[in-house]
Amino acid sequence: MKVLFKIWRQEGYSEKGKLHDYEVDGLTEDMSFLEALDHLNELLVLKGEKVIAFEYDCREGICGQCGVFINGRAHGPHNNITTCQLHMRSFKDGDTIIVEPWRATSFPVIKDLMVDRSALDRIIENGAYISSKTGTAPEANAIPIPKELADRAMDAAACIGCGACVATCKNASAALFTSAKINHLNNLPQGKAEQHRRVKEMTFQMDKEGFGSCTFTGACEVECPEGISILNIAEMNGRRIKAELRD
Ligand code: FES
Repeated sequence: MKVLFKIWRQEGYSEKGKLHDYEVDGLTEDMSFLEALDHLNELLVLKGEKVIAFEYDCREGICGQCGVFINGRAHGPHNNITTCQLHMRSFKDGDTIIVEPWRATSFPVIKDLMVDRSALDRIIENGAYISSKTGTAPEANAIPIPKELADRAMDAAACIGCGACVATCKNASAALFTSAKINHLNNLPQGKAEQHRRVKEMTFQMDKEGFGSCTFTGACEVECPEGISILNIAEMNGRRIKAELRD
């Protein structure tokens, strides 16, 4: 299998980048997309050229480290998967594949396909935790949680923080990410004590990081590898209004 990769190369945040062409032969349809990039990097090493920087860790859709735009879509041509779950069988022999980093002002390019997503970490630092005394873990069944709430909390907790929602949103909004992190705790009894502070501080940080506003286009839900529902955003907005009214 032979494809033409057009890959964004950029030395650093303040440097200009551009697409470079790489014709790559010897690929198989069973290769993952990241293995195809590995193969290209091996060819570049043999030629004494600089390898292409891209991020990954688990390569099994868990960690949220991988993430690039492929032919204009976050994580490639399929809905609800990560870049590392994409395989070359999704392309045809002779295809041209354009690969770019996440595009958002709040995600500056570090190098080539790597972006700085620490803005998401700073949102988490502002409340995506609970404060409780350490000690022996309580018996899980001692805290009854209605099934509907447990399901909503677990669905929101599935967010892996890859940033595809921001990258695919025309406003570069982080509302889906932030709402998932808020709702997975605010729906549980353990998260109730800090619920109002959590929603205020995390949404404040989201705005401070320069992410855009949500206009409910729904693009984030389609590209999110975990299929996190945009209903979480509506829930977060309601919680935010309530928290502000309390003040
Ligand atoms: S490398 Fe971990 S989700 Fe893709």
